[in-house]
Amino acid sequence: MATSSSVTHLQAPLWQLLQATAGVAQAVHHGRSMTAAIEQVPKDLRPGVQALSFQAMRWWGRAVALRKLLARKAPPASADALLCTALALSWRDDLAPYAVHTLVNQAVEAARRHKDMRAQAPFVNACLRRFLRERDALLLATDKEVTAQWNHPSWWVKRVQHDHPDQWTAILEAAQSAAPMTLRVNQQHHTAADYLAALQEQGIAGKLVSTAGMPSGVQLDKAVPVHLLPGFAQGHVSVQDAAAQWAAPLLLKGLQAAGPSLRLLDACAAPGGKTGHLLECAPTAQVLALDVDPQRCERIQQNVDRLQVQAQIVAADAADTAKWWDGQLFDGILLDAPCTASGIGRRHPDVRWLRRETDVQQLAAIQAKLLKALWPLVKPGGRLLYCTCSVFRAEGETQIQTFVQHNTDALILPSPGHLTPSNVISEISLRDNDMGEHDGFYYALLEKRSI
Ligand SMILES: C[S@@+](CC[C@H](N)C(=O)[O-])C[C@H]1O[C@@H](n2cnc3c(N)ncnc32)[C@H](O)[C@@H]1O
Repeated sequence: MATSSSVTHLQAPLWQLLQATAGVAQAVHHGRSMTAAIEQVPKDLRPGVQALSFQAMRWWGRAVALRKLLARKAPPASADALLCTALALSWRDDLAPYAVHTLVNQAVEAARRHKDMRAQAPFVNACLRRFLRERDALLLATDKEVTAQWNHPSWWVKRVQHDHPDQWTAILEAAQSAAPMTLRVNQQHHTAADYLAALQEQGIAGKLVSTAGMPSGVQLDKAVPVHLLPGFAQGHVSVQDAAAQWAAPLLLKGLQAAGPSLRLLDACAAPGGKTGHLLECAPTAQVLALDVDPQRCERIQQNVDRLQVQAQIVAADAADTAKWWDGQLFDGILLDAPCTASGIGRRHPDVRWLRRETDVQQLAAIQAKLLKALWPLVKPGGRLLYCTCSVFRAEGETQIQTFVQHNTDALILPSPGHLTPSNVISEISLRDNDMGEHDGFYYALLEKRSI
């Protein structure tokens, strides 16, 4: 019997969903993103597999620790993925999407009905029955393991502890629940309050959220398909986390006095969420949107088309300025740099398992290279907004402190700094805690001194 509203509508038998979810987990284990793996799942299974995969990834640390107790030697990869999937979904009664006995029975059925796992079905059955019999003792034994306790790799836990000694538990816990659907209201068409009223008329409940002190978005009580949002196709509203909605107002606030034809660069723009927001806030600005990935550039085009705004979109490496820059300085540059995405674990619970510890320094080096290449392109008196969706200081505060030490013409203006992820169960008190729930982000606004 289903106990979660997210999976009650499903027609496919549970064993089939579990097989496909184990396939997704195996793909993540091989370095593929969960989103890409779910796209390969047959359409009729996809919503159910998505719901189960998100949950399995959130509790994968606990599941692997339990599996190690149940079977010292891992079974072949596909059976291991199925076993861990079943354990991740059933280790706690109150979180299990189905009755735990049903999950166990159906996981064994999934093994029996899969040609690569059939031979392992008795082993899967034995492990899961033992889990049911000895659950309390097994859980107690795994409690001591950092990865099981926090459901993140141990290097990740250590880094968050080190970087945020007062908030590390809240940051890790925030990644364990689903993120809300947050909307950015296009102020060219509606105020956020008017749009909220329009939603309520459609029976869609939500509340206002603020960015940079202005009510600009709406957090929905329950996610809805975008086609149900009034004016979505016409660009009256976009889906964007509250923390990401800070970028455009932060960059534009002090720049708009420079006149209506601001020259702006969005250096790492795809899929174009922030490009669109910049143009909603400054419709007369000339915006150049770059991204190194030509396919992702198509997403920027789709986004600006929907919003009915204009941007020049170029596929290029932003650091290789000789290839794309026309020699004219920019009033403002947004550098939403590639990063570990450690701040968006609520939305992408696979990322923690995909990353390696060495990625942090590699990505920090790319961010430093982009900052170094783009800073000379800012006009004296102009601004560069640096941001990452990361909670690691190496990709935020440390990166920017190092940059300003080496660039004496760079002044850090009042900036949010590290916005640690917040959700309903979190007790974090934020500097601007009128934002509702939001992802982890880092923002630093730099002004170029006229020397
Ligand atoms: C965090 S995402 C940007 C999200 C985007 N700003 C938005 O709000 O929708 C980072 C982007 O940087 C792009 N990227 C990575 N390295 C780059 C480079 N050297 N030059 C330009 N874009 C790059 C990636 O392809 C990715 O689309």
